[in-house]
Amino acid sequence: MSRVIGRVGARGIADLLQDWHSGRPSSRGLHRAVRRLVLDGRLPPGTRLPAEREFAEALGVSRTLVVRALELLREEGFAASRQGSGSWVRLPGDRANPDPGGWPPATGEFINLAQATLPAPPELTTALDRARCLLPEYLSGHGYQAFGLPELRELIAASYARRGLPTNPQQILVTNGAQHGFALVLRALVSPGERVLVEHPTYPNPLQAIRGVGAEAVAVPMLAQGWDLELMSATLHQANPKLAYLIPDFQNPTGIRMGADGRERLAGMLRRTRTPAVIDETLVDLDLTDGEAPAPVAAFDEGRVITLGSAGKSFWGGLRLGWVRAPEDLVQRLLLDRAAVDLGSPVLEQLLLTELLREPEPVLRRRREEVARLRDVLIAELAEHLPGWRFRVPDGGLSLWCDLGSPVSSRLVVAAEQHGLRLVPGSRFAVQGSLDRYLRFPYTLPAEELRQSVRRIAAAAAPLGGTSGPCPLDVPVN
Ligand SMILES: Cc1ncc(COP(=O)(O)O)c(C=O)c1O
Repeated sequence: MSRVIGRVGARGIADLLQDWHSGRPSSRGLHRAVRRLVLDGRLPPGTRLPAEREFAEALGVSRTLVVRALELLREEGFAASRQGSGSWVRLPGDRANPDPGGWPPATGEFINLAQATLPAPPELTTALDRARCLLPEYLSGHGYQAFGLPELRELIAASYARRGLPTNPQQILVTNGAQHGFALVLRALVSPGERVLVEHPTYPNPLQAIRGVGAEAVAVPMLAQGWDLELMSATLHQANPKLAYLIPDFQNPTGIRMGADGRERLAGMLRRTRTPAVIDETLVDLDLTDGEAPAPVAAFDEGRVITLGSAGKSFWGGLRLGWVRAPEDLVQRLLLDRAAVDLGSPVLEQLLLTELLREPEPVLRRRREEVARLRDVLIAELAEHLPGWRFRVPDGGLSLWCDLGSPVSSRLVVAAEQHGLRLVPGSRFAVQGSLDRYLRFPYTLPAEELRQSVRRIAAAAAPLGGTSGPCPLDVPVN
């Protein structure tokens, strides 16, 4: 089921393999490390590996060691090679032709649960029509809107004010997505060797960004019911992180929301330890409860909190737009640093988002209703086919964080590929390995595909043991 979908260069794989050995490098160690990258989804099946010599040079090891590691991967079915075509990643039992030249396209039946993303709402096309009509006004100018279109910044600022956080448009920097915003903040505030506090589990891409600036992620484990604020306070004091990265609104992957009391306590500890925090609100619009939303964390500490927003989940990931809300002087600084990487976000997409933000509520309301319906379909299906899985019904967001009962998530991911299903193991949400008892299950596909997915997972899980059968806690915990 895999095909050649790209390649990873020698430098790229060396970055992914950071810290792959603590003592003497060995072929077994390299084989295990590459296998882990395949299992946790960082090296997708079909990725072509670098040539042996370059691979060896990038890791600073002998070519013989790399050759032997590749042999071990091939023996287990995690790699395939062909004379003249090099080696590429695959999954054991992959039934598709493992020849990088001769791929049949993936069948239409293949279901991808690796992403928790929704398709665009129909309003996006109407907004595009309006944006197209507005574009000519901008065409005679230079087109570089480094901070973002003024009207878009105003609408974003007004949306914070409606949520109880008065905001000046000068506090908004429009970015190419929330992840881009986080990367800019990291570059500005964190130096190599410094620490960044994160939740555990957490959204994996920021972890990669943290590693990318040579910093170290310090994990504070989440409890079943939410944040362990005592431990967070102790970690802030003891580890002295330069920054914290938190997702208090429908945390990815657990879906939990932090209440107003928690936000107040969090703001207090950030103040006492003088730690700036990035609060990622990417999922904030996907509230699936009837309750009243707490104010943004920044409302509890204006100076120390940097907020990330995104159009990705509220409207469409393909817009590639997000923003940073921060004190004005930091926005200025982010802009100066940004010039090293890019010079602003595309005007047409910003016009489109501006149009969507003029009247967002009808789109968001429908999105929430649809997502709640899909969540319930998934919960009902899991109760029937995988009654041993435990999960907390999420307050919002786009996925269930399932406890499988035993550490089989990576093996399940491999087995599921053979049932035409792409999953991401729990370990992908871990700071370093672990969490193999867990699986993130998004409810963003159409209902029938969700039903199919659960049945395929149940079939894939059956031979693994430990993931089915009644469980004393088989009622979703809320
Ligand atoms: C918590 C969180 N932050 C950031 C992102 C990425 O956002 P963007 O697409 O705006 O870069 C995602 C996407 O899944 C997410 O779940």
